[in-house]
Amino acid sequence: MRSGCCAALLLVCTTGAALADGKAVFDSNCAVCHQAGGVGVPGQFPRLTTRAGAIAAKPEGKAFLLQVVLNGMGGRITVDGEQILGAMPGFDSLSDDDIAAVLIYITGLDHKPVTYTAAEIKKARTLPRRGPSDMAAMHTSLAAKKVVQ
Ligand code: HEC
Repeated sequence: MRSGCCAALLLVCTTGAALADGKAVFDSNCAVCHQAGGVGVPGQFPRLTTRAGAIAAKPEGKAFLLQVVLNGMGGRITVDGEQILGAMPGFDSLSDDDIAAVLIYITGLDHKPVTYTAAEIKKARTLPRRGPSDMAAMHTSLAAKKVVQ
């Protein structure tokens, strides 16, 4: 009985400690717009595959992606040479673990994944919040610096 109890506890511990499943978070919250695998829709929803990993390879870009997920984004941006005028809601209602996992997932699409921790998400929540149009403006200024392609 005692060993059975320990085994059950161990199971809870290992599954509880496992990282949230970034693909599952993406498929249920993001794929409706960005499409399965983050391939996007030209002129409508930005492609994330390959791009997100390249953006997050620079510290400014890494912080930007996290801010987009928390704050959402809306306003004219240019991606893959096409203008997009769309709106994305913020996802600050997701847990720190889920946001970290989905960011690792999108940066790892056809690219070396970039690590985000739940602690980083928690910290980012304390920064002054930005509106969706501020995030689009940030995209444009980071594009000028070649952080965002
Ligand atoms: C309702 C549709 C929709 C959903 C759902 C959505 N997005 Fe977006 N996302 C967009 C649009 C549209 C833009 C571009 C906004 C603009 O035109 O200013 C965008 C922009 C982005 C960007 C910035 C891309 C860039 O090049 O600057 C990232 C990163 C991103 N989304 C990730 C996510 C993640 C992760 C999720 C799920 C947690 C998600 N999105 C859910 C529509 C959506």
